[in-house]
Amino acid sequence: MGILRTRTTSAAVRIQVSRTGRPALQSPIKAPRIKPASLPIDLSRDLPLDQILVGDCIAAIERLPAASVDLVFADPPYNLQLGGDLRRPDDSLVDAVDDDWDKFSSFAEYDAFTRAWLAACRRVLKPDGALWVIGSYHNIFRVGSILQDLGFWMLNDIVWRKANPMPNFRGRRFTNAHETLIWAARGEGSKYTFHYEALKGGNDDLQMRSDWYLPLCTGEERLKDDAGAKVHPTQKPEALLARVMLSASNPGDVILDPFFGTGTTGAVAKALGRHFIGCERDPGYAKAAAQRIAAVTPLPPEAFATAPSKRSEPRVPFLSLVEAGLVKAGEIVTDEKRRHKAVIRADGTLLLDPAVGSIHKVGALAQGLPSCNGWTFWHVERAGGLMLLDVLRAEIRVQMAAA
Ligand SMILES: C[S@@+](CC[C@H](N)C(=O)[O-])C[C@H]1O[C@@H](n2cnc3c(N)ncnc32)[C@H](O)[C@@H]1O
Repeated sequence: MGILRTRTTSAAVRIQVSRTGRPALQSPIKAPRIKPASLPIDLSRDLPLDQILVGDCIAAIERLPAASVDLVFADPPYNLQLGGDLRRPDDSLVDAVDDDWDKFSSFAEYDAFTRAWLAACRRVLKPDGALWVIGSYHNIFRVGSILQDLGFWMLNDIVWRKANPMPNFRGRRFTNAHETLIWAARGEGSKYTFHYEALKGGNDDLQMRSDWYLPLCTGEERLKDDAGAKVHPTQKPEALLARVMLSASNPGDVILDPFFGTGTTGAVAKALGRHFIGCERDPGYAKAAAQRIAAVTPLPPEAFATAPSKRSEPRVPFLSLVEAGLVKAGEIVTDEKRRHKAVIRADGTLLLDPAVGSIHKVGALAQGLPSCNGWTFWHVERAGGLMLLDVLRAEIRVQMAAA
């Protein structure tokens, strides 16, 4: 996703620092400065919107109000368990994830940590909220099993297929070319957000699939220090976060990222008119994130407003078209290739001699299929061409909206 950035860092991204694991308030600061705490804040009442809480995420999230967050996006430690340096065939060192934040003494320690942050996130999620977590083969199966144990309800696992993966230098395994994202609702009955129609619209009118082909974060988007080195080893691409937010959140929603790193979630949330709350234990990463987010220019609302889905539009019975005079009793409906023909009856059913039924039932019968959407199958002759019933239904909806 192309995010507009300015070179200034004037926007008020707030950072709260906790040396003890308990985040404390800072007065709003101009990014990227991190100041010592000055005022206490009751996080259980005041949601720290568009702020970065510096410290341990579990302690910070436990202080947030219950049921206050719409969506969680988490990119937790991978627990890579690297044994020694990884080198290329020319002996140069691979920039692998060997940071302290990724070190756990055992699977049991990693599992206990995972259970604690997932439970904390579940408490702050609204009943209809959902969680996304990204990981690799090192951790995603453990995370998936724990989140099911905690009561989350699996919706999909998404494969992020990397357009430009790092090769397997030793040639002993397949190229590790993907990461997995789990999308789970807070619970089985959660009415989670999913913008099916919008995603389909952006995908040549084909259902968006669960395999996403996107490049790694490189080029301008990749944060580098003055020496040209990567600021963070695992900065995620903005396009990945944009797809997550556009599919599973609404403008104005609150998105919590417990492992904020360099703030990809915050940068995309700001661009797309969402709020974020970030937790990051490393003040250096938090500072880089604050600087980055401050330079993001939000998109105009019309660029990210969610088009209403067909399901949320008012139901229109076919009889309404007859009653409104948009189609006439006795008129013929036909399919796109004029292979099937049926007669419109005064009661809003169709006759396909000898069968009588709804536009859907008769459409299915004509094709010998178990089901059919009559609105997108049947047409009427208008002005020398065919007009889909769906177009006439849209007219009725416009009239309903104006009434
Ligand atoms: C995989 S990285 C996230 C990268 C991020 N998605 C980005 O695009 O920059 C995980 C981050 O979690 C932070 N972290 C690890 N354990 C943490 C904890 N207990 N509380 C808060 N942050 C933690 C690490 O410092 C690291 O920056």
